[in-house]
Amino acid sequence: MKKNLFLALIICCGITSFISTNAQINQFVIQTNKIGSEIQPTMYGLFFEDINYAADGGLYAELIKNRSFEFPDNFMGWKIFGKVSLKYDGPFEKNPHYVRLEYPGHDHKRTGLQNEGYFGIGVEQGKEYRFSVWARVANDASKIRIQLIDESSMKEQQAVASQDLIIDSKEWKKYQLILKPSETVSKGQLRIFLESKNPIDLEHISLFPVDTWKGHENGLRKDLAQALYDIHPGVLRFPGGCIVEGTDLNTRYNWKNSIGPVENRPLNENRWQYTFPHRFFPDYFQSYGLGFYEYFILAEEIGAEPLPVLSCGLACQFQNNDSSAHVPVCDLGSYIQDALDLIEFANGDVHTKWGKIRSEMGHPQPFNLKFIAVGNEQWGKEYVDRLQPFVEAIRKAYPNINIIGGSGPGSEGDQFDYLWPQMKKLKVDLVDEHFYRPENWFLSQGARYDSYDRKGPKVFAGEYACHGTGKKWNHFYTSLLEAAFMTGMERNADVVHMATYAPLFAHVDGWQWRPDMIWFDNLRSVKTVSYYVQQLYSQHKGTNVLPMTMNNKPICGAPDQNGLFASSVWDKNTNEIIVKIVNTSSQPQQIDLSFPALKKKETLSGGKLITLSSDNLDGENTLDNPLAIVPKYSEFDFAGNHLNINVNPYTFVIYSFKFHK
Ligand code: AHR
Repeated sequence: MKKNLFLALIICCGITSFISTNAQINQFVIQTNKIGSEIQPTMYGLFFEDINYAADGGLYAELIKNRSFEFPDNFMGWKIFGKVSLKYDGPFEKNPHYVRLEYPGHDHKRTGLQNEGYFGIGVEQGKEYRFSVWARVANDASKIRIQLIDESSMKEQQAVASQDLIIDSKEWKKYQLILKPSETVSKGQLRIFLESKNPIDLEHISLFPVDTWKGHENGLRKDLAQALYDIHPGVLRFPGGCIVEGTDLNTRYNWKNSIGPVENRPLNENRWQYTFPHRFFPDYFQSYGLGFYEYFILAEEIGAEPLPVLSCGLACQFQNNDSSAHVPVCDLGSYIQDALDLIEFANGDVHTKWGKIRSEMGHPQPFNLKFIAVGNEQWGKEYVDRLQPFVEAIRKAYPNINIIGGSGPGSEGDQFDYLWPQMKKLKVDLVDEHFYRPENWFLSQGARYDSYDRKGPKVFAGEYACHGTGKKWNHFYTSLLEAAFMTGMERNADVVHMATYAPLFAHVDGWQWRPDMIWFDNLRSVKTVSYYVQQLYSQHKGTNVLPMTMNNKPICGAPDQNGLFASSVWDKNTNEIIVKIVNTSSQPQQIDLSFPALKKKETLSGGKLITLSSDNLDGENTLDNPLAIVPKYSEFDFAGNHLNINVNPYTFVIYSFKFHK
């Protein structure tokens, strides 16, 4: 009897709480009469770093690894057969190595070499690939045969493309031809045979798809660049990340080595060879084929402000405890000059030293650089001491350039608390914050920027991503929490001027870090749910913040807010009010969205409704199923000044209202 009464009580309480949860209507109020801060055109952006084979082997469309034989093991990536020797007095001063192919004699079958590409070479049936090589002969003309082969069928007669090339110049000369594969191969190889008895020298052996992004010869992989463009990014931060700092100062990213003819850009070791011992990539180098000129062009072509990051003279502090690893403050001269020269390279007229080089590379018009970051993820007094002379020199020479300093690797803590006031003292324009943090952090940080100083430097959330606890791969729930957190960035548009998710790209066969925004193999790519979150924000960023409250407070996932996050913006160009709501809870949420401040002649009508959700919180998009979780687009009707909506559990919705006056 007692037991039954107890059960009845539980059921009753359960029903009561069910009723109260479901009956609770969250009152969201949008203040249409208080058009708020301007949303910066730099929101939302991209951060590109050559990590996870994002550049060589990724966005940079070169298909040949170690094309100039400059890896420390000169034949890394190559198989050689017959009589092949390495020489080092080639035509390109900074890449002096090349190979000599000679007749192997009657006993041996053939001479040649074969390149494995980056995890294989991906080619598509019927598409065109431009093979090029610098070559010369000692005396008489000679011949090479160039083939694309499927790694799984190594027989010559099964080559998917094959062409002969006559080399007849005694001087070094660039030769090229087009290969058209008869089959699609994802892990092919390039093979070159010597087809005559006369020796040939070969240097800078290269293979690019003809169909690159915007058709550039030293171009970018089209699908990957298109994905960047489709975000409509406001800013492009490059080239890193830790690679800016280098494993040591010698391997820091040196922008001056990354410009000029590609054949003469010296190789640099990639700092991401070393990160995780269990995923060690001894062949990870930077060809600099995707260099600063190409980054500026890319920024221009995708409509983003370029934002280069330069070394401040500190080698990666995670890897170098010893102060002798860094440049002493008194010796920073050449590093500071690099920064000044870069600004001249980007903005100087064609008569300046560096502007002339830019012009000769094909871009006489300035790139109109507005931002520069000094130091990536540095910390401590050693950073502040080094940043100061950079700030002084840049301010003096280029007072209109915005300087970005950093707040260290943490989202809070001692370094962060030390660096922010220091950045204010140095009067940098923006402070770069990095946060790779777990679910509970993202859930608790919706109000992060509400209390930031409005008079100090602005925020550049330069690297961030939600890293799932025990689930450090891209999956729906972490992306949803990124969307939730970003409502706080949007609401605080007066403080947060830039934000870039990180990292951007990862090759499925060669990653060092995850989650990442876009994954790819040699032929395919997939946009993660985090990509779609970034894209939805960027494409619906509006022009001004519109205050939006729940019980007179910002809707930021506070404990009494049922796991709801929300923000709203006004778009003066399209005459829309755009409302973003993220329900991070396991319960559906009833919302009464109201516009009490609409004036007499002002009306709203329905428009676009976008929903991003998944039945599976661990769900993800994959190369084989790239559209598993994508935004769904529909329309909604609206009249009056109240909209009752039901937001499903774990769902991100965007309502775009049309505004009429
Ligand atoms: O984005 C990956 C790395 O994270 C970056 O190189 C570095 O800045 C941060 O530690």
